[in-house]
Amino acid sequence: MKIKNLLITLGVTLGSLTTALSAQAAEPEYTFKLHHFLPPMAMAHKDFLQPWADKVMKESGGRIKIDVFPAMQLGGKPPQLFDQARKGVVDISWTVGGYTPGRFPKAGAFELPFMAASAEATSMALQQYAEEEMQEELSDVHVLALHTHAPGSLHSRGDMIKVAADLKDLKLRAPNKAMAEAFGIMGSAPVFMPVTQMSSALAKGILDVAALPFEVVAPMKINQLTNNHTLVKGDRGLYTQFFLFSMNKQAYEQLPADLKKVIDNNSGIELARHIGYLFDQSEQHGYDITAKGGNHFYTLPAAEADHWKQMMQPVTDSWIGDMTEEGANGQALYDKANALITKYQKKTGS
Ligand code: BEZ
Repeated sequence: MKIKNLLITLGVTLGSLTTALSAQAAEPEYTFKLHHFLPPMAMAHKDFLQPWADKVMKESGGRIKIDVFPAMQLGGKPPQLFDQARKGVVDISWTVGGYTPGRFPKAGAFELPFMAASAEATSMALQQYAEEEMQEELSDVHVLALHTHAPGSLHSRGDMIKVAADLKDLKLRAPNKAMAEAFGIMGSAPVFMPVTQMSSALAKGILDVAALPFEVVAPMKINQLTNNHTLVKGDRGLYTQFFLFSMNKQAYEQLPADLKKVIDNNSGIELARHIGYLFDQSEQHGYDITAKGGNHFYTLPAAEADHWKQMMQPVTDSWIGDMTEEGANGQALYDKANALITKYQKKTGS
């Protein structure tokens, strides 16, 4: 190695070492608890939440430490996570908005059947929509980001679902209120439950079909309890869930300006985009793991997907009607959510 290159290399190495040492040397001034419901082997924990906590620690020079508690280790149930952050039981939480039906009515536009595109585009759309339309619904917390998962699929322990009539009388996991209505229209018996209860519900026969993205299928062992998987591809998928990544207001407000900036630099639309990207990427990984187990797959032909979309249209109509009855302009909110998704689909090419 030439002397000049050696000096440059040494400079970089020493520089990294100094940064690492200074991050470790400083005693944390603030230690926060981040609580969520998925197991530690889930992508959301390994690739999103833990790295996010580490990045905040590094960028704060070690002054903010965030301990991440997966699998509801600090107690309570997944639907209570938002309130845990709101009330200060924990400092930060990550959870699914649809686990508390009716709590975030405006975000319901993103749960409607055949609304969701890629997680990256839909998450960016949701983040912008939330910043502009949901301040009131979210005023009790400091919002870090809202996002969605990639469009969900149907995982059956019985026969392959190929046409609308195959859904009739099946006990089908409803991820949220809108999809409970949609599956009800198709003649299924929707059973509302968080992802954490689904393995045991499939094993006990409480569920015939799980509605989930592939990304979370393997960590929850759904691929071992089901063998036939129906995918809905195309411009917009069957459905998605929206997620809230929230910080207790006081926990954020107490921070000095420079540390608030560290949190701000790790919040908002770029974070929403990053999380969405991670969820899109891990969808293929979850599919590959499921395929390795010898499971079977079927993609709805476009005409059949369109038929399902027409059948489920009353869910969208009634959401627009309900929002309008509550004093909002339901049609304008729906149109805005839809247009934002299209905008970010074009922007991200996803
Ligand atoms: C769900 O409840 O559908 C869900 C939760 C976590 C990750 C993906 C999906």
